[in-house]
Amino acid sequence: MKALVLSGGAGTRLRPITHTSAKQLVPVANKAVLFYGLESIAAAGVTEVGMIVGDTADEIREAVGDGSRFGLRVTYIPQERPLGLAHAVIVARDFLGDDDFVMYLGDNFIVGGITDLVDEFRRTRPDAQILLTRVPDPRAFGVAELDSAGQVVGLEEKPREPKSDLALVGVYLFTPAVHEAVRAVRPSFRGELEITHAIQWLIDAGADVRSTIIKGYWKDTGNVVDMLEVNRTVLEGLERRIDGEVDDASETVGRVIVEAGARVVNSRVVGPVVIGAGTEVRDSYVGPFTSVAENCRITDSELEFSIVLRDSSIDGVGRIENSLIGRHVEVTPAPGVPSAHRLVLGDHSKVQIHT
Ligand code: DAU
Repeated sequence: MKALVLSGGAGTRLRPITHTSAKQLVPVANKAVLFYGLESIAAAGVTEVGMIVGDTADEIREAVGDGSRFGLRVTYIPQERPLGLAHAVIVARDFLGDDDFVMYLGDNFIVGGITDLVDEFRRTRPDAQILLTRVPDPRAFGVAELDSAGQVVGLEEKPREPKSDLALVGVYLFTPAVHEAVRAVRPSFRGELEITHAIQWLIDAGADVRSTIIKGYWKDTGNVVDMLEVNRTVLEGLERRIDGEVDDASETVGRVIVEAGARVVNSRVVGPVVIGAGTEVRDSYVGPFTSVAENCRITDSELEFSIVLRDSSIDGVGRIENSLIGRHVEVTPAPGVPSAHRLVLGDHSKVQIHT
């Protein structure tokens, strides 16, 4: 059995963070979303991984390398444009050969891994197996309709009027039967070859397509709100660990990780929080569900329920909440009068200013 991990695509909903970088590499509790997926694949006993890459190929390659760090052997498969999930299977045809495979969307986050699912597939070996989960608003996903026996009878991609609240999770198990299906489908309204349609094609052809409804935690980390939620969930599972320096004037409460080389000076840190290596928190408050990556400076400020990416600084700006702050960002007070906000924001930035 092999794995096909999708790390191409555009990431429009996480702009401007993903203008220049891969959305699969945005960190959750200071670790790339993609790495959690790769660890789950390795834990399920799958070692041969094909990695679909697009415009951000260099960055993904640099982060993942040959995969040996995860106990995997990674083969990179360039996709010239993000033409859809079924298109990714088409370009991976040579790599996949006639093996069964698990397809894993690189921006999906599943707590509890995929080991049970992969084991069940190996045991029962239907033509395909999909994962479903109940969501409050399924319109942003593929949506499945089941009959009274629980058999999948219909699948739609991002329907305006969903027939159920069962969304397709971004992990799929396939036998080689899928290869005929991905070649048979035509581009959807969004111009993509949808894996959802390929699976529908299999159902229509009488193939055995099974579904498992997962109750554990799952998120597509495609937008900022979900990203912060996933961060919160992962931080909740942390064990306290202080490897860096915390001075006597500071207090760290609960599940706080201060990585080696990080410094907390005259500050209060209330977990769950992770402070990355080389970061300094000074004269500040860092509150629950916050991840600060490596080499940041948090000075004379308050930060809560937020993610700060590496090499950024927040200095003397009062309280920041519910925020995703990119790499090499500087947040400082505006000097002098008149008292006005002074902003240098990239394309597609979003700023909410308290007035
Ligand atoms: O997250 C689950 C959802 O994922 C499912 O419910 C949908 O049925 C499925 O179509 C997919 O929807 P999204 O619109 O969220 O997919 P997205 O375009 O975000 O792509 C998912 C991942 O695959 C992401 O890591 C980028 C990568 N990708 C995407 C495309 C379209 C590729 O590598 N190549 C591609 O051509």
